[in-house]
Amino acid sequence: MSKKILITGGAGFIGSHVVRQLVTKYPDYQVFNLDALTYAGNLTNLTDVEHRPNYHFVKGDITDETAVNALFAEHRFEAVIHLAAESHVDRSIADPFAFVKTNVLGTVVLLQAFKELWFNNWAGKRFYHVSTDEVYGTLGETGLFTETTPYAPNSPYSASKASSDHFVRAYGETYGMPFVISNCSNNYGPNHFPEKLIPLCIHNILHGKPLPIYGNGKFIRDWLYVVDHARAIDLVFHRGVDFETYNIGGFNEWTNIDLVKLLCQLMDEKLGKPIGTSEGLITYITDRPGHDLRYAIDARKINAELGWKPTVTFEQGLAQTIDWFLNNPEWLANVTSGSYQGYYDKQYNTKDK
Ligand code: NAD
Ligand code: TYD
Repeated sequence: MSKKILITGGAGFIGSHVVRQLVTKYPDYQVFNLDALTYAGNLTNLTDVEHRPNYHFVKGDITDETAVNALFAEHRFEAVIHLAAESHVDRSIADPFAFVKTNVLGTVVLLQAFKELWFNNWAGKRFYHVSTDEVYGTLGETGLFTETTPYAPNSPYSASKASSDHFVRAYGETYGMPFVISNCSNNYGPNHFPEKLIPLCIHNILHGKPLPIYGNGKFIRDWLYVVDHARAIDLVFHRGVDFETYNIGGFNEWTNIDLVKLLCQLMDEKLGKPIGTSEGLITYITDRPGHDLRYAIDARKINAELGWKPTVTFEQGLAQTIDWFLNNPEWLANVTSGSYQGYYDKQYNTKDK
């Protein structure tokens, strides 16, 4: 049975892997990718699937109510997988309003369009909201985030994502809209924009630039290979239970400093440099304000109910990620030209250096 699905943010890092997963695995689906192509959106992430007959790209902004309503009226999407967002914590500290606009207002525009189309005719419909573990705030040295951990976001980014999660739940309660939400830990992999820790360090090692470590580097993240996240989204989309949320994580906690040292070693090996060369680039800098100490996901629910677990080890995933960046220098050059340098200079105070 043909199904029309709207994926938002499909030209971004995770969204492009989700688009690829659905377009290739479900040829009977018609997959529409709505993306504004902000600095983080890149259609070259999808060159391998863009000619498939079941893939359609629509350039547009999710906060543009008129355009979104017209798109829903024209195509009558039976399901939405919503990933479009402003996604970087440091940018949210510099400009919170952009995050309120896209992440909160944009989500409500989509919810409202979906509701206007299907209210009281919900059978077979689904709104899937892709969210983050950062809505739970920070952990101390022990414990894990479960689906019932209270929300306590600490950054403008996580506050905007928490707000959007609440709106999705509210549409479920108020209008009976069938939704699922997943909250995932830090992703890494091919197509990762080099403002985030792992691709930023790969990029800087390649250019012999400092590797900026916030604070003492002892902050902990739980890393998941992006293709495993896309597989989890496929499963939750098809088999998740309406009105439920699912935590997705890598069972893979690393301090930032240990992770960057490992990355340095792997890069030295790949580039044929003496071990220790890249580590010499590590530079401790002023901490991020409101920096969450530790994220770690308890992914037992999705494992027990849907049979999902990560398939790519960290060693494999990092090797594949490094290989991808080494094999795609033009991708990296393209996304680091233009506005990237201005962002970088401002964020890392390097303008006059
Ligand atoms: P990303 O920044 O790489 O991509 C975001 C995409 O959304 C881009 O293609 C961009 O052009 C598009 N977009 C931004 N504003 C838009 C707007 N107003 N209208 C239409 N399109 C717009 O983000 P990502 O890392 O791929 O994250 C995708 C989703 O997954 C986000 O909702 C994020 O909160 C969530 N998430 C990310 C991570 C992670 O580690 N990156 C972890 C858990 C959850
Ligand atoms: P990031 O990739 O921005 O993801 P998030 O903040 O959403 O977890 O950062 C991952 C960790 O790396 C986080 O603890 C902040 C730290 N970090 C640095 O130490 N230096 C950097 O330049 C960046 C971008 C991040």
